[in-house]
Amino acid sequence: MDLVLERISKIFPGIGGCESVEVLKDFSCFINGGSLLSIVGPSGCGKTTILRIIAGLEKASSGRVLFGVGEAEPGEKPLVGLVFQDYALFPWRTTLGNITAGLEFMGVPLKERLAKGMEYVSAFGLDGFENRYPKELSGGMKQRVAIARTLIMEPGVVLMDEPFGSLDSQTRNSMQEFLAGLWEERRDTIIFVTHNVDEAVFLSDDIIVLTSRPARVIERVKVLCKRPRDRTGIECNTIRRSVLDILGRESSKLG
Ligand SMILES: Nc1ncnc2c1ncn2[C@@H]1O[C@H](COP(=O)(O)OP(=O)(O)O)[C@@H](O)[C@H]1O
Ligand SMILES: [Mg+2]
Repeated sequence: MDLVLERISKIFPGIGGCESVEVLKDFSCFINGGSLLSIVGPSGCGKTTILRIIAGLEKASSGRVLFGVGEAEPGEKPLVGLVFQDYALFPWRTTLGNITAGLEFMGVPLKERLAKGMEYVSAFGLDGFENRYPKELSGGMKQRVAIARTLIMEPGVVLMDEPFGSLDSQTRNSMQEFLAGLWEERRDTIIFVTHNVDEAVFLSDDIIVLTSRPARVIERVKVLCKRPRDRTGIECNTIRRSVLDILGRESSKLG
């Protein structure tokens, strides 16, 4: 589903004598339905705040989030799926129990949700682990459970906030490959926040590069490299270099 962020500003008011914090200033962005867009920017610039505003967990001080613009029947807010870095799995539920939790809350009958859940268990490489608890799973598996739990709900928009941030680099690479393959099959609309430029280049159709706080868009970089991507190939490297240059110029401005 297409998504438009229109001149969004966010100021957190100061509490108890603290100064107010301006996190976003006139932030505008268009996300094409079925595309994977990454947002990269310095730590603390407001990336999570952008996702929280899209999800409706935070209210913008001004500006609008519009869903489905340019589509036949625009307007209705779709189901928005969220994936965080820290998995946020239910520790008392098994893999299958976690994956089917959303369906259960929606009242989907047991037989139907278990059948659908098992399809996701297989598609996410979790066969044989469906009755295990989160503490028995590796980091990569836990994150696959978290992503499966979100995607099984067929959300109109998926927000991922540094989802691979706590994984070791080997697991991180394989999770990126997994997500890229999954996205090519499903074509979910994904907004992927990361401060890892390599990851953004490997995964995205577009990369939005942000300034430090208050976050504004410095540049939108189109990643036209063919998929599946070769992360060490010349095409990916050229884009990686230009994104790093943009970020480097931004941080040198800060001194
Ligand atoms: N609820 C809040 N109240 C006050 N300040 C906040 C709140 N949430 C985030 N901030 C501040 O907003 C800035 C941006 O935060 P965040 O969106 O989490 O950045 P990022 O995800 O890019 O690291 C930070 O300086 C943070 O301290
Ligand atoms: Mg963040």
